[in-house]
Amino acid sequence: MNVLQRIAGLFDASAPQQVPILHHNDYLCNGQLVTWSGPRTTVATPLVEQPLGSYPALNEPAAMEALEAAKAAWRQGSGDWARATMGERIEHMEQFLAAMRTQREAVSRLIMWEIAKSWADSQKEFDRTIRYIECTIETVKDMDRDAARLILKEGYLAQIRRMPLGVGLCMGPYNYPLNETFATLIPAILMGNAVVLKPPRLGVLLYRPLLEAFAQCFPPGVVNTVYGDGPVVVSPLMRSGDVDVLAFIGGSHTADLLRTQHPRPHRLRAALGLEAKDAALVLPDADLEVTVAEIIKGSLSFNGQRCTAIKMVLVHRTIRERFLELLCETVDSLAFGMPWEDVLVTPLPEPARVHAMQIYLEDAENYGGRVCNQYGGKTRHTFFYPAVVFPVTPAMRLYNEEQFGPIIPVAEYDAIDEALDYVIRSPYGQQASVFGQDPAIVGQVVDALANQVCRINLNAECQRGPDTLPFNGRKDSAEGTLSIYDALRTFSIRAIAATPRTKANTALLQAILAKRSSNFISTDYLL
Ligand code: G3H
Repeated sequence: MNVLQRIAGLFDASAPQQVPILHHNDYLCNGQLVTWSGPRTTVATPLVEQPLGSYPALNEPAAMEALEAAKAAWRQGSGDWARATMGERIEHMEQFLAAMRTQREAVSRLIMWEIAKSWADSQKEFDRTIRYIECTIETVKDMDRDAARLILKEGYLAQIRRMPLGVGLCMGPYNYPLNETFATLIPAILMGNAVVLKPPRLGVLLYRPLLEAFAQCFPPGVVNTVYGDGPVVVSPLMRSGDVDVLAFIGGSHTADLLRTQHPRPHRLRAALGLEAKDAALVLPDADLEVTVAEIIKGSLSFNGQRCTAIKMVLVHRTIRERFLELLCETVDSLAFGMPWEDVLVTPLPEPARVHAMQIYLEDAENYGGRVCNQYGGKTRHTFFYPAVVFPVTPAMRLYNEEQFGPIIPVAEYDAIDEALDYVIRSPYGQQASVFGQDPAIVGQVVDALANQVCRINLNAECQRGPDTLPFNGRKDSAEGTLSIYDALRTFSIRAIAATPRTKANTALLQAILAKRSSNFISTDYLL
């Protein structure tokens, strides 16, 4: 069978496993799974005709109930969770981790069926999340150990600890519905905040197998869930003014809206991961095999639906022809198919995503661009074959917008300043990749990019990992830094107990320590 026949027959064979139909009837509020009898949202799967299930379309009162539960747990900073020691919180988190591990198969399967992520990548997302939680626990222990001492500064004895901020709202994106949501949820909880979690629209069902674990492992109100339309269930939370920290990964338009809905935006701490259009700069002496392999990984892993995907390629005119030839040939030979197969390219999560890609191609063609690879843009239901488009010019949407899908736009340049200018003028500033060998040129390009983006990848794709590295962005791409360590800081604030070092005050501190009458003034060392 040739490629076109395989594309045409993609959805015809039945799945090798049963569709994991799941009608999700409840939401987590104040430690209870509350049964919802109101309207429901049907969940389609991009992989078969039959629906995958449904989930509660909560209304404003239900969302506010979840917020009230979080507020009650926080109890203006005097709730048990907020005042617990780090050691106590870690015990709860470890129980949760053990319970979560038992749900690996169920959660990974739902990731695959809800968003068409390959089975291998769905499991990888689950495993990466487990690892993220383990590393977060280790890191928070280190932070607590560092804080377990008094310091002497200019005549003052002081102890500094990081304390929770209050009520958090955590919202993740559909491309990493578990991992990216947990990357803010877990540090937020561990630092003592109480949280309302809103899963992404595509990726709600996969949370159902975890609800009992949340309910059993954390005190009531520490984790609450809401589902439904943002304007119905999220806007009222923001308008209440009771959200102290917002973690949102998605579009800047929504992020701006959420922030402005808060009546006292100065009191809202925000950790935002927003749009990006990471560029790959291919220098004349680039090793083309490495470059093409990395650009394909960078632009087509999970079908280009990563905030860190390479979404624009600028290649030097002298090697453009050879580069495009190799790129197109490799793209046309990629393993594609249904997500349960051993493939890189899979269907998109909903028909609207295919339509969006088609519109990008039409627009590029209207301005003189063309799809250079043989199968680029061939579609079947929710499947869209990756397209290499050249030449991409400033008049085209593909030049300026984050396409978030399987299209690789390519433009050529003569002088390196033209390529750098693309990055300088871009409204986004997350990462870039540079492919080249000459230390003098690569060194200069890195220096020029370092004031434009937050990570420069040399002869490698753009990516977030390893998760211990800082993950952030300039301009419209992000606010704040996430990493295992930085996220713990984002969801906490330093508090200091300080006193002039007089005899009497020293004796007081010693007595507090000896009687262990404070959790804050304490030198207990977490083992
Ligand atoms: O979608 C944005 C993700 O944080 C990217 O993570 O680079 O590991 O795929 P990744």
